[in-house]
Amino acid sequence: MAGPESTPRLPRHLAVIMDGNGRWAERRRRPRAVGHRAGARAVNICIDFCLERGIGALTLFAFSSENWGRPQDEVGALMKLFMGALEREVEELARRGVRVRFIGERGRFSPAIVERMAAAEAHTQANSTLELAIAASYGGRWDITAAARRLASEAAAGRLDPAAIDESLLAAHLSLADLPPPDLFIRTGGDQRISNFLLWQMAYTELWFTDVLWPELDTATLQAALDDYAGRERRFGLTGAQSRQPAHAPEGAR
Ligand code: FPP
Repeated sequence: MAGPESTPRLPRHLAVIMDGNGRWAERRRRPRAVGHRAGARAVNICIDFCLERGIGALTLFAFSSENWGRPQDEVGALMKLFMGALEREVEELARRGVRVRFIGERGRFSPAIVERMAAAEAHTQANSTLELAIAASYGGRWDITAAARRLASEAAAGRLDPAAIDESLLAAHLSLADLPPPDLFIRTGGDQRISNFLLWQMAYTELWFTDVLWPELDTATLQAALDDYAGRERRFGLTGAQSRQPAHAPEGAR
């Protein structure tokens, strides 16, 4: 992956909120589940784009901690969709060098889905062309809380001095600790918020929003995001002059 320069032309890690499936379906007077199915096709467009452009990591927000509160039939349809995608797509992803992982509160899914998630991870773990993380039953607050709980357990067991807890130790206990933080965040569907996604990891991520609904995603939209990103100056809290010197890029920029 690219070095720590302040504004690499290409994001090393892209994080995406795939919003607008429901509205896409409602505009066609179809059930929301139809929008999610169309959304699954757009997932493939996004993965293909990352593979073609050489983006090393992609994190997709597929299902939030809060999405469990949606109507039961919609949650059921999404679970069916995840199960189907895990059955259908993993072999092809493996063939294309994609490493798949899931982040989130896995214990809330059915044993059958948990089993397939683990199988997908095991089957693709040796790959490195694209690191694909699917955030499912995920929330940024859950992630930070889980990391804090792990550190607290270590401290309570006498294996960790609380004074040794600093930002880098907490970051090391979060999801995606082995990846660079997202350089670019894309949200489709017109809303401009982060919605409890990678709260810690996106502290210095460049944000890009589009009105395009997720099922309508195309390469041109993704390219527009990359073009916009390439023109930005990332300063990470420093002055422009400082941030243009790679040696001054802060740890969190990497
Ligand atoms: C948000 O749109 C989307 C979701 C809650 C589900 C995302 C799922 C997919 C894209 C399909 C499958 C994914 C994988 C990884 C196989 P929304 O329903 O909130 O749309 P709305 O804002 O228009 O109501």
